[in-house]
Amino acid sequence: MGRNRIKIDLLIHDLKVPLSVIEAGLVSMLTREEKYGPLTDKQKKVLKRVLRNTRRTITLVNDALELGRSREGRLNLTSFQLSNLIEQSLVEIFDYADSNTAERIRACKDLRTLKAELARKGLKLDIEEPLWCRQYTLDQPKVTQILRNLLTNALKYKRNEVRLWIGEEDGFLCISVRDDGEGIPEMYHERIFECYFQMDQTGSCPVRGHGLGLAGVLILVEDMGGTLTLESGQGRGAEFSVKIPLAPPRS
Ligand SMILES: Nc1ncnc2c1ncn2[C@@H]1O[C@H](COP(=O)(O)OP(=O)(O)OP(=O)(O)O)[C@@H](O)[C@H]1O
Ligand SMILES: [Mg+2]
Repeated sequence: MGRNRIKIDLLIHDLKVPLSVIEAGLVSMLTREEKYGPLTDKQKKVLKRVLRNTRRTITLVNDALELGRSREGRLNLTSFQLSNLIEQSLVEIFDYADSNTAERIRACKDLRTLKAELARKGLKLDIEEPLWCRQYTLDQPKVTQILRNLLTNALKYKRNEVRLWIGEEDGFLCISVRDDGEGIPEMYHERIFECYFQMDQTGSCPVRGHGLGLAGVLILVEDMGGTLTLESGQGRGAEFSVKIPLAPPRS
């Protein structure tokens, strides 16, 4: 790893401590009113929002470090239930712009109510119950980061609907994210995976990003020994499909 890269990763790493202090302070104020004094409902609402966004920042810092680890080809395998990973990714995505929906997603008790809640937001979740409950041993932060980035893009560029399909085929976990937006002309199918590349904005999409998401997704997928494919054309929406081997390569 280059010296500059180490310095940048160390800076990102050192953000973790002050962020943890902020998080702990907020949690204390919210949960220990006998020590810190009573809060009004309005104060609680603001503090909860600040806490959620502090946690989101912590996630982003961890994501940034995860990319660094990925460049070194390291995998961090853990066992988790697929439902937890999907729910966590969805809450993170919605909490940013629409915290009420994030709250409702968190409160969903089963897959059926979650699907109905998401459908209201134009997101069709297509997954079978047995898979939803299945346990996987994979690099969970990487899979979460992939899902979050692909879904965020699709929700940003969709016209009416996004479909998230998750399945298992021939020893691979398969994730496909399809939207019905403007699509990506074939001439850009390779370049959109380059850092900082963004297509000419036609003004159809008001939210600007940095052109880093897909470049990161590709690195993470490849480091897990998987593949990422894109099917799209001008005016035809876009479908990103990820296949992750269930027996990951040795790190
Ligand atoms: N689902 C999609 N439909 C249409 N264009 C897309 C889609 N996903 C990505 N793109 C195009 O690819 C470009 C790169 O996407 P990428 O996720 O890397 O960056 P971004 O979303 O612009 O910014 P960020 O760094 O916040 O993710 C986008 O700017 C957009 O032009
Ligand atoms: Mg993006």
